[in-house]
Formats: sequence, structure tokens, C-alpha cells
Amino acid sequence: MKKLPASVRPASVDDIDAVAKIDAQSNRPPWSPSAFSAELTKPHSWFWVLTDDETDTQILGFFVASAPDRQVHLQTFAVNSKERRKGYGRHLLQQLIHFAIRRKMESLILEVRKSNEPALQLYQSLGFVVIRVQEGLYPDGEDGYVLILKLEERTRTTSAEDQFSEPGAETEENGNRPKNYH
Ligand SMILES: CC(C)(COP(=O)(O)OP(=O)(O)OC[C@H]1O[C@@H](n2cnc3c(N)ncnc32)[C@H](O)[C@@H]1OP(=O)(O)O)[C@@H](O)C(=O)NCCC(=O)NCCS
Repeated sequence: MKKLPASVRPASVDDIDAVAKIDAQSNRPPWSPSAFSAELTKPHSWFWVLTDDETDTQILGFFVASAPDRQVHLQTFAVNSKERRKGYGRHLLQQLIHFAIRRKMESLILEVRKSNEPALQLYQSLGFVVIRVQEGLYPDGEDGYVLILKLEERTRTTSAEDQFSEPGAETEENGNRPKNYH
């Protein structure tokens, strides 16, 4: 698999404006900058950004997931509209999946608008399956699909292509968690 010129890392306060801007062009309704900031301090929140390897400052995409127990809930996720169809969305989710497997999570769950064909295609290509339709899930009344990925099954089928290096792994193993690492 071609290596992307980008890597994931935990988000920091300096990333909030760029993340909120991408979210505003991507998701309905978008989150406020303060909602993203709040995720930086929540103990069970995994708020990561994908940045360019050259400067580490260009935010290509992000996700916020919450993992209070053994089920991870993907809360919001987007790729900069100018950077789509380059594999960044798939890369972000693959990193989330591998991280969740390493953390011994059982499943990953998310909701998506029925009309959101690009996201649905991406989730299904990664093995997510629809478990139910939730009527009127969104504030404008649109229905949503609830999708799940069982991570035990995924562990058995993970390919060598999906090699994963955990952001901040060395420091965490030394007991020195990087700032904002949840
Ligand atoms: C969904 C989203 C994150 C995908 O990001 P991306 O970086 O463009 O996705 P990738 O390039 O990694 O594409 C991965 C797969 O997604 C699917 N996909 C992506 N864009 C698509 C499109 N416009 N139409 C159909 N399928 C699409 C394809 O299966 C694609 O695989 P392929 O390139 O081998 O065909 C991006 O479109 C986005 O930010 N959308 C707005 C926010 C959003 O919908 N978030 C999810 C909320 S639940």
C-alpha cells in the first residue's frame, strides 16, 4: 500500500480552529470550537488529527471518538473538502480501528445520515455493518443508520497492509503520556 505523506497524532489546542473550520464545511450540524476544546480534557475521548508530514501543521482531517467502556463510539469525523478522495479518510479510520484493537475494545459504533453515500461506502468497505435505522436521528429530521464493527472479527482479518504505529507509543510505554493523549 502506498504510504501517505501524513500521520495521525492527538489533537492539541492549537488545532481547534482548523478542525472546527473543516467540521463546519463537512458535518450538519457542526460542533462549536468550544465543544472540540472540551474533548481535549475528557478522559475517555480520543481526539486525533491527521497532519502533513512536512510541517505537521496542515490539518487534513480529524476524528473524535469516545471510549468509556469496551465499545468505541465515533462521534465526529471529517476530511478537509480540498483533500478528499486521497485515502485520508480511510487512513484515519484504520488508525482508529488499530488503536481500538490494541486497547482491547470489543466494537466500534457510529451513526451516519442515510444520504451520506461517501461515508457509508467508506464504513462498509472497512467491514462496518448496519444494525438499525434510527428515524429522525438528525435535527433536520433525516434518518440515520447505526453501524457497528466487531473488532474481534476484525483482528482475525487484519492484513499486513494495515500496519499501525500508535501515536506517542514510545513515550506512553515509558509512562510519560504526551500532552492531550487520551
Ligand atoms: C466521508 C469522508 C470522511 C471520506 O474521506 P476521504 O478522505 O475522501 O475518503 P477516502 O479517500 O479515504 O476514500 C475511502 C473510500 O470512501 C468511499 N468514498 C469516499 N468518497 C466518496 C464519494 N464521494 N462517493 C462514493 N464513495 C466515496 C470510497 O469507498 C473510497 O474508496 P475508493 O477511493 O477506493 O473508492 C469525507 O467525504 C468527508 O469528510 N465527508 C464529510 C464529513 C462526513 O460525512 N463525515 C462522516 C460523518 S458520519
